Amino acid sequence: MAGNPKYQGEKIIKDYGKLSFDYVPEVLVHREAQLQRLQTIFKPVLHGVRRTALLLGSVGTGKTVTAKRFCQNITSEGTLAGINITSLLINCREKRSEHAVLHAINSFFNPGCPDRGLAPEEFLRSIRRSLEERKLHMIIVLDEADEILRRGADDLIYVLTRFNEEFCQDYSLSLILISQRYLLDQLDKSALSTFCKANIVSFERYDAAELRDIVLSRIDLAFYPGTVEEECIDLIAESSADWGDARFAMELLETSALIAEERRLSGVTPECVREAKNMTCSDGSYETKLSKMDYNHKLVLLSICRSIGRSAYTTSIATENAYKIASEECKTAAKGTTTFWKYLKDLAKDGWIEQKVITDPNGSGGRTTCIYISDFPIGELRYIIEKEFNLTI
Ligand SMILES: Nc1ncnc2c1ncn2[C@@H]1O[C@H](COP(=O)(O)OP(=O)(O)O)[C@@H](O)[C@H]1O
Ligand SMILES: [Mg+2]
Repeated sequence: MAGNPKYQGEKIIKDYGKLSFDYVPEVLVHREAQLQRLQTIFKPVLHGVRRTALLLGSVGTGKTVTAKRFCQNITSEGTLAGINITSLLINCREKRSEHAVLHAINSFFNPGCPDRGLAPEEFLRSIRRSLEERKLHMIIVLDEADEILRRGADDLIYVLTRFNEEFCQDYSLSLILISQRYLLDQLDKSALSTFCKANIVSFERYDAAELRDIVLSRIDLAFYPGTVEEECIDLIAESSADWGDARFAMELLETSALIAEERRLSGVTPECVREAKNMTCSDGSYETKLSKMDYNHKLVLLSICRSIGRSAYTTSIATENAYKIASEECKTAAKGTTTFWKYLKDLAKDGWIEQKVITDPNGSGGRTTCIYISDFPIGELRYIIEKEFNLTI
């Protein structure tokens, strides 16, 4: 796809497809180690032996794209080795139940198979038959797997990992789970026993220099030469480095370029990036949701974001402390603990946060509540609320 006719005269974006979220670059800079590790873990698949792995990391750390790249690579390797490998990525945010996932796998072989009426065992029989007939080694990628495990889909993981318990070289089913946080503790014992704990591949947040390289490599692929000013690349990298999120960097890059094209500029300027940042930060769907939230809940949400910072989660105690500090900064009296807990409950009910009771990590032996935010970019939420409250950003 070389150039969109609408913009042909502008010559900034050369290939829109290469800016799309679905695009899987040949080379993934700064993810060589993760790819290598996947290759090592899954090498036995080339000999007909199933494997499992868990990819772990926060939003925009390249988990999905790396899994896709890896699946394409191993399929090609399989072709060279004379072994039939295929893969299927299922997003558990879209397929939210065990039934929906099994239906999606079965539909891969039997498109048009009705959604209702089949029990899990029947789906599995049908999938097994399809693999057997085709002598196929399949890798199922369950993306955003925490979505489904939260709803208690241990059985699904169990049956998928037990799929070829009896060693069988003719066909196999391997599993990659992708999650923003460690979820093996959410599996029951039987599912856990079949899921090799050691096969965890971690995706750290990208730093500014890494994001710069990622942006640069995408510019080389998608833009006409010399159409993005150097400063823009730094600006995009720095803007997204707060939360180490390549997705945000990609979004900024694309939006800045579209702004430049709309303005009929000859290239992307830092002003385009700033405008894109403003649009991206303040126009998302969560922004609309956030704009309807009252002051007190926003203050608690801000405290949670600050308290989580760059970690995966925070505790209710740390959040309450952050809440007291934020209240002081905003010159409002902090509400008492009961009201604070009510706000937490409201935020959980509205899907902003998730809570889980664990043994106190500080070793007191007591129980404490962990708070996670997994559906929203924490950095952006924080940015929007702090801006609204006129706090130092
Ligand atoms: N190392 C990388 N090289 C090139 N592009 C990357 C890299 N990491 C992430 N991306 C791009 O950033 C965006 C977000 O990556 P994604 O894999 O969806 O992250 P995650 O699944 O961890 O949230 C995608 O457009 C992806 O292509
Ligand atoms: Mg992803």
